Parts: sequence; structure tokens; C-alpha cells
Amino acid sequence: MEDAYIIRGGKPLKGTIKLSGAKNVALKAVIAALLFDGVVTLKNIPRIRDIFELLHLIQTLGARAEFTDTNTVLVDSTKLKENKLDFLHASKIRASFMLFAPLLYRFKEASIPNPGGCRIGARPIDRIVNGMKDLGIKVEYNSETGYYKALMDDKPFGDYTFIKSSHTGTELMILLSVFCKDTVTIRNTALEPEIDDLISFLNEGGANIKRIGNDIVIQGVTSLSQKNPYTIVSDRNEAVTFAILGIITKGDVTVEPLSENYLKTFIDVTKKIGGGVEKTGDNSWRFYYKSPLSSLDIVTDPHPGFMTDWQPNWAVLMTQAMGKSLIHERVFENRFSYVDELIKMGAKIEYSSPVVENPESFYIFNYDKNKEHKQAITVYGPQHLHNGVLTIADLRAGATLAIAALFAEGESVINGASILERGYENFVEKITSLGGDIKKV
Ligand code: EPU
Repeated sequence: MEDAYIIRGGKPLKGTIKLSGAKNVALKAVIAALLFDGVVTLKNIPRIRDIFELLHLIQTLGARAEFTDTNTVLVDSTKLKENKLDFLHASKIRASFMLFAPLLYRFKEASIPNPGGCRIGARPIDRIVNGMKDLGIKVEYNSETGYYKALMDDKPFGDYTFIKSSHTGTELMILLSVFCKDTVTIRNTALEPEIDDLISFLNEGGANIKRIGNDIVIQGVTSLSQKNPYTIVSDRNEAVTFAILGIITKGDVTVEPLSENYLKTFIDVTKKIGGGVEKTGDNSWRFYYKSPLSSLDIVTDPHPGFMTDWQPNWAVLMTQAMGKSLIHERVFENRFSYVDELIKMGAKIEYSSPVVENPESFYIFNYDKNKEHKQAITVYGPQHLHNGVLTIADLRAGATLAIAALFAEGESVINGASILERGYENFVEKITSLGGDIKKV
């Protein structure tokens, strides 16, 4: 199987990228569509590996879920007949845990394996399980089989407060509450705009979900049905990858369509370091090299902060900024898998340990004081990067190594293309359209 890229770097990338649909909405919207009566049509769904995995998983449950056009997916839960997920397929995608919502509403009982996804930390689901329990759902984990089994005797009700932000957790609680008894209030929810896109999709189908600041209030409805196809938003993580490519290769890349709310923090920070940013249309953003870049310290945060998904790509940009840049990862406990690979290419990066007063509350993951956590790096710039033979360990690290190889002079080999393709649609075609030299082998 072709699973590597050969990249010849050093060319300025120029042109316009039509962004694909957001992976982190597409996965959830396909699952949410199983709560609807009849056929649901979703548009702008990216043809990426995580989506193909999910569609396959849903098909194994008996329901219809398939591409009917390049980026259109049709979902029909009428023939849903299984309430236990296949271990191998379910454990490949983290969002599979959200299937508890449609399965519990259909069968009252369901079994789902401990969720997978990129290994960017332990990624426990304690907050999510506690939330399910607070809504009256019984959940048990069997460590021998690796399955969670849940039982929903009655419609969910009550309220739940997240002790710390959880993006997928907030979404699962919403899906579980759509048909609740009276009202469910979820407090201290995650604020990612992808969650609001999922809410819009559900509300268009008849749900009654309101965001009030950090809280989400759901009034139970009796059914959902779709009147018009729903088009999901663009992928802001993909936007950031191409934006950084435009700047670092001394090129000029426009990404569209994406509204400002999705990119504001990234745009502000890019302007601060001297990167060229220009709004070229209502939802169109141009990123280009304007002047030598200056260093900057960043801390990742849930929305509206600097997204954890952006920091690996950002690290490559900081190898070309003048001075020392600190990147402090607050959300996941293991998101520096790309560091050794960048060092192989000539980057100067060191792990550092910023002093944090109360790490248990500062970090969004479950901080364990008895464990050694490597949560920050210092990137020294500017440094000459050369080609290398590299290996991708997780999705965002994949795009990071591709950026580094497209910037560095010479030919690089990147192994693990399929990991990058979990989340990037038509990556080779898009890079080629900007004048980049990449091929899959
Ligand atoms: N966490 C717990 N317990 C829980 C829930 C979360 O300890 O019950 C921890 C996580 O391990 C993590 C932190 O809390 O350290 C935040 O987790 P969150 O639940 O917010 O993240 P997620 O839902 O697993 C989603 C995206 C990520 C994105 C984050 C932040 C999906 C499928 N994944 O992850 O996307 O980085 O939110 O917005 O939506 C990616 O696309 O590459 C990716 C990893």
C-alpha cells in the first residue's frame, strides 16, 4: 500500500485553497443524523479516512450511511439493528463513543469499546461517563472486554457541570439530551464553534438547543426530521495548515470559505509575529510572507484560545522566527510527537518546564503530579531546515512534517501518509495546485 510522501521542498506555494468540510463537525453530524427519522443529507463532508471508517462502522450496525456524491453523505437509521460496535473499527475513531446517543434511544442498551483516535495522551473519558450517569444513564466498563455498556431506562433529565472543558463530551451530552424529559442543562461546556455548527444542524431538524454563555440548555422534543440538506462548515485546522505554508514558503495562499470567528485567534497571533494576513472577501483570507518573523510565546487553550491542533504546525513557523518561542501545551498531555522529527531536519528545539501554580486546574487533561509531563518546548529561530526521512505519529504531526518538508530544501520522505489522510482531504492535489512538489509512493 502506498503510505509515504516524497516531497521536494523549497518552492513558494501560491494560490487559493477551497477548504474542505470540518472533520470535527462531519464525524459528529453523521452520528447525529442517526437520531433523525428518515433520510438525512449532509453536504461538504470531507472524503477522509476517519469519515470512511465511521461510515463503515455505521453500516455494520445495519443503517445506511454512504457518499452519494463527491462530498454528500446520506444517512438513514431506519434499518439500524445492532447495538454493539465492532471492536476493531470503533477503536479507530474517537467519535465512535458518541454512537451511544442514537443506539441508546433506539435500543435502550448499547456496548461501545473504549474510544481510540490519535494517541496524543491518555485521553480518558471520565468526564463524559460522569455526565451520562448524571443524566440517569447507567454506564459500566468491563476492563476484560474493553467495552463500555450503557443502559437508558428512562429519558435523560437533570443537569451536568463539566469540571473541565470537553469538546466531544459536550457534543455527546447534547445528543443524549435532544429527546430528554423536560430540560437538560449542561454547564461549563466547551466553546468550540464546531459544536455550534452541530447545534445548528440539530435545531434545523426540530431540536430545541440554546447556548447561553458557557451553558447549553436543551428542551426535549419528540422527533427530528430534515427538511433541507445541511452543509457543514469548513475545516479551520486545514485553513491553518495552508496559511502557515503560505507564510513559511514565502508564498501567498488564500483560504476560503471561513468566517472570522473560526480563525480570529490565529489571525491575531500571525499578525503579531509579522506574518502577512489580509481579508480578501467576506469569508476569504490571504496569508503571505511580509517581513522577517519575530518570536512569540503561546499557550494552547480550548476555544477561543490558540487551538491545540494548531501548535504542531505553528512550531515549524517558529523555527523561522527570530529568537526563542515557547509553545506550552495545555489541552493534551502528549502532543509533541513531531519534535524529534523536526530536530532531525536541523531545528533547534528543547523541552522546557514553565512554572505553573496549580497544574491540576491549569491543564485541561487530568494532570498527575506523580508523572513526568512534558508540556512545553522552546523553539529557537531562525534555523536552516534540511530534508529528512520522517515518520508521522499522529494527524496534526503529519501536516507539521509535510510543512517542514515543503519548506526545507531537498527531497524528504515522510512515512505514514494514511495518518495525515485521516483528516486532510486531497492533500496531494491541494499542495500540487499551489505549486508544491509532492507525490505519494
Ligand atoms: N479529557 C479527559 N476526560 C474526559 C474528556 C476529556 O481527561 O472525559 C481530556 C482529554 O484527554 C484532553 C482534554 O481533556 O486532554 C480535552 O479533551 P476534549 O474532550 O475537549 O477533546 P476531544 O473531544 O477528545 C476534540 C477534537 C480534537 C481537538 C479537541 C480540542 C474530535 C474528534 N477531536 O477532541 O481534534 O483537538 O477536541 O478542540 O472532535 C484533531 O482533529 O486532530 C483532534 C485531536
